[in-house]
Amino acid sequence: MSKIVIETTEVLKKRDLGQNCFHLILGTFSKTKSIKPGQFIHIKTINGGGVFFRRAFSIFDINPKENSIEILFKVFGRGTAELSKAQKGDKINVMGPLGNGFTLPSKKITSIIAGGGIGMPPLYFLAKYMIEKGYNSEKIWFFYGGKTKNELMELSKIKKLGINLVISTDDGSYGFKGFVSQAINDNFDGLNGQNILFACGPLGLLKAIDQMALREKMSGQISLEAPMPCGIGICLGCILPLREGGYTRVCREGPVYKIGEVIL
Ligand SMILES: Cc1cc2nc3c(=O)[nH]c(=O)nc-3n(C[C@H](O)[C@H](O)[C@H](O)COP(=O)(O)OP(=O)(O)OC[C@H]3O[C@@H](n4cnc5c(N)ncnc54)[C@H](O)[C@@H]3O)c2cc1C
Ligand code: FES
Repeated sequence: MSKIVIETTEVLKKRDLGQNCFHLILGTFSKTKSIKPGQFIHIKTINGGGVFFRRAFSIFDINPKENSIEILFKVFGRGTAELSKAQKGDKINVMGPLGNGFTLPSKKITSIIAGGGIGMPPLYFLAKYMIEKGYNSEKIWFFYGGKTKNELMELSKIKKLGINLVISTDDGSYGFKGFVSQAINDNFDGLNGQNILFACGPLGLLKAIDQMALREKMSGQISLEAPMPCGIGICLGCILPLREGGYTRVCREGPVYKIGEVIL
């Protein structure tokens, strides 16, 4: 794991994606080149706006040439509302890179990547990283779903990866009508122990992927979220129960776990 740093960066670019979602490019961040898919940063605006704790965001993309990092986020509460006000040139304090990140699979097997809603960013980075590392694009399936068409973000960027992409919406306003797990069942007939699942998104999606893996005897990795006050393993504010007994700190031992490892 690369050394964790705390640095003041600035907003290089901000885009309003609609539906209360935003895209930020932050730089420069000295550890950009060492960031792996599935890792995250813990950030805070400089004026804070009265928000004391940092908030966690997965890395959506990195730009090694300019040492910048990209995140996508949706406004939920005070912290994300404050962040959504940031403008080009505003200072943002970044702590990272944090967390373990995904373990890359063998190049011989097919990867089934399942992302729902705001769980998409780390999975896009994973798929892009795999393509850059020479993985066969035909062996990467990306299932991305949202409640409705307007909730889907950065589709053109995902399409550019040239992987097998299946979009779904709960209301059928775009792509397959139904949940991501149903889209996998209906559009992919190679579910078996030879392939691997990756998932990030709402709890319902993670539970469905967990059951799918169990049923098909597949291995996989899921990226989890938990409220994260400190982000560095001290406060125990992010613990979740392990199936084998005991607890895990999502910020330190996670956020990526083997399917079945954590009780969801
Ligand atoms: C490892 C990690 C990666 C993340 N990546 C992204 C990302 O790429 N894009 C994105 O939009 N969001 C991401 N999140 C979630 C993001 O950190 C939360 O949206 C943010 O902390 C909410 O802050 P807030 O101040 O807006 O809401 P708050 O006012 O803090 O909370 C609003 C509500 O959400 C609950 N809540 C807060 N944080 C979490 C959490 N992490 N999990 C479950 N419930 C929570 C609170 O209990 C409260 O009910 C990630 C979280 C983690 C832990
Ligand atoms: S957030 Fe403090 S231990 Fe994980």
